[in-house]
Amino acid sequence: ADIEKGGYDHFMLKEIFEQPTSIYDCLRGRLDANAGSITLSGIEQHADKIINANRIIIIACGTSWHAGLTAEYIIEELCRINVEVEYASEFRYRNPIINEGDVILAISQSGETADTLVAIENAKSKGATILGVVNVVGSSIARASHAGVYTHAGPEIGVASTKAFTAQLTVLTMIALKLAYVKGTLSMHRYRELLKELDSVPEKVAWILNHQKSIKRIAEKYKDAHSFLYLGRGYNFPIALEGALKLKEISYIHAEGYPAAEMKHGPIALVDENLPVVFVATKDTYHEKILSNMQEIKARKGKLIAVVTEGDEVASKLCDDVLVVPEADEIIAPLLNVIPLQLLSYYIGVAKGYDVDKPRNLAKSVTVE
Ligand code: G6P
Repeated sequence: ADIEKGGYDHFMLKEIFEQPTSIYDCLRGRLDANAGSITLSGIEQHADKIINANRIIIIACGTSWHAGLTAEYIIEELCRINVEVEYASEFRYRNPIINEGDVILAISQSGETADTLVAIENAKSKGATILGVVNVVGSSIARASHAGVYTHAGPEIGVASTKAFTAQLTVLTMIALKLAYVKGTLSMHRYRELLKELDSVPEKVAWILNHQKSIKRIAEKYKDAHSFLYLGRGYNFPIALEGALKLKEISYIHAEGYPAAEMKHGPIALVDENLPVVFVATKDTYHEKILSNMQEIKARKGKLIAVVTEGDEVASKLCDDVLVVPEADEIIAPLLNVIPLQLLSYYIGVAKGYDVDKPRNLAKSVTVE
């Protein structure tokens, strides 16, 4: 197993560091930023149906559900198609309303999650078109879908999903851009700009991984906290949820992800000098708003940690500790912002002496209810 870990202490760390390559592999042969084209044959076959759909219903569990929630924000913004995101386990049991004009988008790393599989089979029997975004080739969900896009992240061994998540976001962003192109909802300038941004992601992820030295020290500093709060707005709200999930999974520290503005309706009551609050606060449309949320936490003496854009002195000055990422378009930013949060949970889990590759009570793939 040591050889398989390729010199890394754990599969999780190896998989985190593989992301510049796995994202590149996911884009390869599909995105051509110079030509201005995206090739996704599974989506192209059904493109008319999708752009004219009543709605797209995204179905997933766990980390894949967070990729789905991010995709809701991106697809609605770029394509102006109504998107709903559902937990597979809830969707399958609540007699959902499904019509023939609905498109289901199932997201799954393993392609074997029982709830997701049954949910799409139910929807298929009611006439919906099923698209799959799956990592494992030939898996049950891939076979049950009418068409789909593989994420090509390679085998993921660590139970807590990392490279599969960024590959899912990469595919979902390409799908959104492809549909926006076919539907004509983006200017050619903006479309080309986003293709270039997506093309630069592997390089930017490599930059983050090369600048991660301080994360280990930050992990040591906060490893004994009993609870963490993760906050984000807009495209970064699902990333706050994912950051909190990663921490729970491998460090067994209670963590809660929340929309930053919604904290006033509850979580703010928890804030004192013992509560680390992690903001996903890169420069985007909501930046001023999140800065004021950060000030509110600071005024209550919470410990402020934030993912910030390189060179953002204003945000950095507010924080006790920062996790820096390079500048990026807000549509692409989730793909980058999750990386330091993966590392933070990894180093906290390791500092606490836990088996981060095989956290207690969790399974890589939940094939029973
Ligand atoms: C389990 C895994 C998670 C994963 C979830 C959904 O809980 O531990 O990492 O996100 O299942 O799995 P899927 O294979 O459908 O993406």
